[in-house]
Amino acid sequence: MLSIVARAFGPPSVLQLEELPDPTPLAGEVRVRVHAAGVNPYDTYMRAGGYAISPELPYVPGADAAGVIDALGDGVQGWKVGDRVYISGTATHRAYGAYSSMVVCRVHQIHRLPDRLTFAQGAAINVPYATAWRAVFQRAQAERGETIFIHGASGAVGLAAVQMARAAGLTVIGTASTPEGTEEARAQGAHHVLNHRASGYLDELTTLTGGGPNIIIEMLANQNLDHDLGIIAKFGRIVIVGSRGRVEIDPRRIMSKEATVMGTAFWNLSEEEVSAIHAAMAASLANGALSPVIGRELPLAEAAQAHERVMQPGARGKIVLTV
Ligand SMILES: NC(=O)c1ccc[n+]([C@@H]2O[C@H](COP(=O)([O-])OP(=O)(O)OC[C@H]3O[C@@H](n4cnc5c(N)ncnc54)[C@H](OP(=O)(O)O)[C@@H]3O)[C@@H](O)[C@H]2O)c1
Repeated sequence: MLSIVARAFGPPSVLQLEELPDPTPLAGEVRVRVHAAGVNPYDTYMRAGGYAISPELPYVPGADAAGVIDALGDGVQGWKVGDRVYISGTATHRAYGAYSSMVVCRVHQIHRLPDRLTFAQGAAINVPYATAWRAVFQRAQAERGETIFIHGASGAVGLAAVQMARAAGLTVIGTASTPEGTEEARAQGAHHVLNHRASGYLDELTTLTGGGPNIIIEMLANQNLDHDLGIIAKFGRIVIVGSRGRVEIDPRRIMSKEATVMGTAFWNLSEEEVSAIHAAMAASLANGALSPVIGRELPLAEAAQAHERVMQPGARGKIVLTV
């Protein structure tokens, strides 16, 4: 099989295409011929070294992919060769092993890919959609009729959160920094989209919402958290999904609004909890209420470029590697 291998931690150039032996599924495992693998920001943090999950070198990055089952280990029931699936991690590790033309997964790590979704879309589901679901429904406990502000709505997690919140009957306000990202967030269900690089955009939010949003899903807390505390409604909830540094806040703002600031971290979810989220999303993925947006497809061999691209501004959906 062909795989992207990192033999050292470091810059994107450590990612090299190599030929590795085809893996064989053990009992309770399936082998998937991969058509597309998803690139997440954490893949770059792990590659750079010092991430919370640090694989032994050499390793193959990626937890997200989609393809077709091509071999079954002993005792696997309910699946057959030829089934279209997307994965949540590999038998090697739930956080890596997927940038490959073949992966072996435990049965609980495969999920049916509805016919209406492409393999690229399948590769865009696991980390972004489970994270958005966790943030919107399990952490913020969003309810119909509330207003949600998705601070960073043009990327993979943000667009997933927009789709979910809209389908659940919330008023959805998002942000993006480019016309393409803005248009996409609108197309995916945001009622309003503001530009997080424009001065005064949070004043616009206050005008739109009156008392402020009930919920904020925050993609860049190190820049925005103190401002979020200024605009959140009384008794509001802020869920931190992304942060790339430190920030100074005024705790009095939390106190006076009796606001709640919470975080979410995908790796805190057990594999059972991840499977339960995928089961909960299955009907919406099949009927189109949830439908991943692919911004860019690159060949597997260009994983290094994909790692550079995913860290640049101007997101519009997901970056996937095609095999
Ligand atoms: N906690 C977890 O378990 C978890 C799981 C998945 C991801 N994450 C983190 O969540 C973040 C988003 O992940 P992703 O996969 O959606 O990445 P992505 O596709 O690269 O999207 C990044 C998003 O952040 C937005 N952004 C950039 N500058 C911003 C600002 N000043 N204020 C608000 N938003 C801003 C981008 O908008 P523009 O490009 O339009 O400027 C884009 O919408 C990343 O930091 C990632 O590491 C955390």
